[in-house]
Amino acid sequence: MARHEELFIAVITVLVCLVQESKADGNIPKPQITQTPVGSVIYRNEKITLNCSVPWNSLGLDYIWYKDATLFNSNQIYTIDSADPSRNGEYKCQVKRDNDTSELSDPLTLSVVGKDVK
Ligand SMILES: *[C@@H]1O[C@H](CO)[C@@H](O)[C@H](O)[C@H]1NC(C)=O
Ligand SMILES: *[C@@H]1O[C@H](CO)[C@@H](O)[C@H](O)[C@H]1NC(C)=O
Repeated sequence: MARHEELFIAVITVLVCLVQESKADGNIPKPQITQTPVGSVIYRNEKITLNCSVPWNSLGLDYIWYKDATLFNSNQIYTIDSADPSRNGEYKCQVKRDNDTSELSDPLTLSVVGKDVK
């Protein structure tokens, strides 16, 4: 019994430390990319937007975007007016405020099929 309690307290302590550690690393939460329209199949010539957002604390952020690890310029919303398969790849974003930089978002894989939108 007592051993279980000790173990439980130790686990909680470690978890609390991890949370404090990750907070101390930066005040900017990890961003995520949402795609509009939602869905795994995008047709040629469709208009697509990718939105890099953080769940809180989004004031005054700068946005950094990568396609297949290559940096490109965009603000929070990246718009592709007319999709084609050359846009296919893995997109990630990152947010920055002053000298504080978030971790990278999870990748979003864009997959455009070579057919025109109906
Ligand atoms: C981007 O995503 C955020 C979080 O879901 C949302 O609040 C915001 O309205 C979106 N912006 C646009 C232009 O869709
Ligand atoms: C950012 O870093 C630069 C150079 O290290 C420093 O001069 C500046 O004061 C920092 N800005 C903030 C807001 O911390």
